[in-house]
Amino acid sequence: MPNRALLALARSDRARELALELPATRAVVRRFVPGEARADAVQVAAGLVAEGLRVTLDFLGEDTIERRHAHRVEAEYASLLGELARRGLARSAEVSVKLTALGLRLPGGEEIATAHARAICEAARTAGTTVTLDMEDHTVTSATLRVLRTLRAEFPETGGVLQAYLRRTPADCRMLAGPGSRIRLCKGAYDEPADVALRDRHEVDLAYVSCLRTLMAGEGHPMVATHDPRLVAIARHLAREQGRVTGDHEFQMLYGIRPGEQRRLAAAGETVRVYLPYGQEWWGYLTRRLAERPANLSFFVRSLLSS
Ligand code: FDA
Repeated sequence: MPNRALLALARSDRARELALELPATRAVVRRFVPGEARADAVQVAAGLVAEGLRVTLDFLGEDTIERRHAHRVEAEYASLLGELARRGLARSAEVSVKLTALGLRLPGGEEIATAHARAICEAARTAGTTVTLDMEDHTVTSATLRVLRTLRAEFPETGGVLQAYLRRTPADCRMLAGPGSRIRLCKGAYDEPADVALRDRHEVDLAYVSCLRTLMAGEGHPMVATHDPRLVAIARHLAREQGRVTGDHEFQMLYGIRPGEQRRLAAAGETVRVYLPYGQEWWGYLTRRLAERPANLSFFVRSLLSS
């Protein structure tokens, strides 16, 4: 499971300030976040699309505590979607959105976040693409799934995320495997207590496979989000077993992680989507990537020593 001490840093302003003072931080951030500006992200997206990959763009940020910030996040997504349409990228590039960036944790947050998310879904539809709601920690799982259900009544193409490590996920998977659903299945990136989440890697992998079976046997569009080679192989096998064909499911990986495998899978005829984050609020995202893999941390430390 992800390193707990590192995940705790995700919410520390002090740690963020200290890290920002280190020149090496920038180099590490760039590995996972290709740019802070929208233009950088759209440029990188265009390059990936030209290589035959698809993209989901995430404007970084979470846990908004001011209403006007939630408005700014909505406005950024609207501009981004307009830009994707203008550049002819909307067929291959969609957006991923965190509801806490849209105000979910504010008082009355569910309504606030739903209103902002609805506006983003409208902008996506006008642009000719889709929205996926990222999944955050377990305190907002039920609210996120409720918002997803509300949005899907108007925008059935809206995607959601389920985390295999949550004990509730098998039931959510069964509920969301129906026609038209787009569900991204990931292992889960947050530090969750044992009463709500499995904490053993092997158990999480088994849960992932079991959820994959449900989604692949269902009538929706499963989005297999993992870099784990064994799970990718199992997903391909299950897709074949269920008579699935290219285009009715997809693989997703994060920008900067196993880029060779992303291209190999695409060359083998799979639909592959790269999750592409951008913006200045990269601290939480970066710490989760470092926590997932000790080798990333040693890369960070080596960069520090050589800077
Ligand atoms: P695992 O962590 O076991 O890694 C398998 C292998 O992949 C490693 O051995 C290594 O080779 C490589 N790898 C994995 N992580 C790496 C890293 N950080 N750096 C370098 N190599 C790495 N989570 C969540 O809670 N909510 C969400 O909405 C999303 N959304 C999402 C979208 C997409 C497209 C992906 C791929 C992942 C997410 N996640 C997520 C994150 C997910 O829950 C999980 O934390 C990471 O994907 C790592 O788990 P893996 O399945 O890759 O396996």
